[in-house]
Amino acid sequence: MTAHHDLVDTLIHRHSTPPTCLTGPAPDDDTLLRILQAAESAPDHGGLHPWRFLVIDGPALDRLGETFVEAMRQKDPDAKEETLDRERVRAQRAPMIIAAIAREEPGHAKIPEIEQLLSAGIATHQVLLAAQALGFGAVWLTGLRVYDENVMRALGLAKNERLIGLINIGQIKEGAPTRGKRRRKAVIERWDG
Ligand SMILES: Cc1cc2nc3c(=O)[nH]c(=O)nc-3n(C[C@H](O)[C@H](O)[C@H](O)COP(=O)(O)O)c2cc1C
Repeated sequence: MTAHHDLVDTLIHRHSTPPTCLTGPAPDDDTLLRILQAAESAPDHGGLHPWRFLVIDGPALDRLGETFVEAMRQKDPDAKEETLDRERVRAQRAPMIIAAIAREEPGHAKIPEIEQLLSAGIATHQVLLAAQALGFGAVWLTGLRVYDENVMRALGLAKNERLIGLINIGQIKEGAPTRGKRRRKAVIERWDG
């Protein structure tokens, strides 16, 4: 089998690992750099590089959890303690979260914003895929908190940036699902003029 066949096989069998099935240790810096390097080959019209990644691990995960809690409190001052706890725990399931950030250059003469956003999404998927190909469990999560102004501010996002995902990464716990959800069978839909 050639290397390319291996790649397609990896693509076909790619699947996420639920955050509750992730555990430490997180990727070390050499591995992390390799994972992030994968993002750099995302197709990028005009070379705008409309993305960046923020690595959150160690004690920063606790602070991220508190940020989620604070955002929830702002939204719902009457939020129950168990609701707040659920927010806190969201930042504490995986040993590392990579925040994927799309940066848009509005009104660019040649590259529409949708293309910039697509590039950022692809770069994020490259990170997810690289992590999974290296044997880590990973999952792309959002939820309402990524659209929360307070969360974005806490993470230091600029006005032209948006949080597009929280990639949870870690070792795969025993008993975690070894395959993804049932896939649809691919079909060929051909336009014949
Ligand atoms: C932009 C984006 C946001 C997502 N947000 C969530 C989320 O907040 N919660 C969730 O359970 N799945 C979310 N998903 C889906 C999971 O990442 C995952 O793809 C899904 O659980 C199916 O698993 P699979 O990747 O093994 O097919 C999101 C996917 C994308 C592309």
